[in-house]
Amino acid sequence: MKRRSLIQGCGSYLPERIVTNSELAETIDTTDEWIVERTGIRQRHIAAEGQFTSDLALNAAQRALDHAGVKAANIDMVIVATTTPDNTFPATATKVQHNLGMVNGAAFDIQAVCSGFVYALSVADNMIKGGQADTIVVIGAETFSRILDWEDRGTCVLFGDGAGAVVVQVANGADASADSLGPPDVGDNRGRGILSTHIHSDGATRDLLYVDGGPSSTQTVGHVRMIGKEVFRHAVTNLANIVTETLDANGLSPDDVDWLVPHQANKRILDGTARKLKLPMERMVVTVDRHANTSAASIPLALDEAVKDGRIKRGDLVLMEAMGGGLTWGSGLVRW
Ligand code: UT7
Repeated sequence: MKRRSLIQGCGSYLPERIVTNSELAETIDTTDEWIVERTGIRQRHIAAEGQFTSDLALNAAQRALDHAGVKAANIDMVIVATTTPDNTFPATATKVQHNLGMVNGAAFDIQAVCSGFVYALSVADNMIKGGQADTIVVIGAETFSRILDWEDRGTCVLFGDGAGAVVVQVANGADASADSLGPPDVGDNRGRGILSTHIHSDGATRDLLYVDGGPSSTQTVGHVRMIGKEVFRHAVTNLANIVTETLDANGLSPDDVDWLVPHQANKRILDGTARKLKLPMERMVVTVDRHANTSAASIPLALDEAVKDGRIKRGDLVLMEAMGGGLTWGSGLVRW
């Protein structure tokens, strides 16, 4: 029987401190009205001094493991998607591995900026299908506040800190022997699982969204720089394309999707994607108003919220999609 993977549980963590748009307007030339109208963002969580990406990641991972009923001793792999690692090296994932109490397995980071979570999910899915691991914790964790230029109103109002995690496991028993993960008409015996993942990048567009520092270039950490309008334009097109590619690969249509869990960058991008797909906004999970853009953490944060409040139910078809610096973009389709 072919191996397939499924998401066994999820968890998330947000730092305590909330910063509202009005608070930002006290130090930079902006207004709550501008930020809400242009982005839909009302507030963001900001990590405390001394609280690192690995700390947020650890909290989210522990919650996901509890939700999945999986013990640290049974994890084969920890993958952290982040653009804001604690250090240039070693990988933030190794710190999470140690802090989870794991003495076996492998841990590494993935860098695909805001697409990091779907990239990491894709790697985990294929590691499991290929037989290299049975249980993988996939985490998206960021302290983006640390790489923002707090004098650049065009970027600093957009981002926030946070972490989300999922436990991905090889399907066993009834899940493994189910006829299909796909459309309802294939049969009643539909299992849970990751139907497919899709990833893309286009390095020709890397100057649209980048950090102006790094160990090899400037030996500084640097700050986020973005040509917002151009990124916006690419986002709406790339995201609609990746959704179509994903549904086509599985013989599905937008009507089959129970929940779209998109990367949360801008409410206008979410609205645009929904319009292009003719998907009612009621079937999209939106957190950008409260979390802002938490880069690799935004999808697992939104997913966890919708699972825990009961919107996403067993058997639902959940589509995740993201686009970020690189540019990178990708998706994951899951029967929950
Ligand atoms: O995670 C994936 C990557 N990120 C994204 O997907 C973000 C994509 N881009 C966007 O979300 C939008 O382009 C932004 C929200 C970043 C900007 O919105 P926009 O409608 O494209 O505005 P703009 O950059 O064209 O700026 C319009 C005006 C400018 O003033 P002038 O030149 O017209 O006088 C800006 O200086 O708005 C000004 N502006 C602001 N005003 C008040 C820019 N930022 C602010 C601000 N407060 N925070």
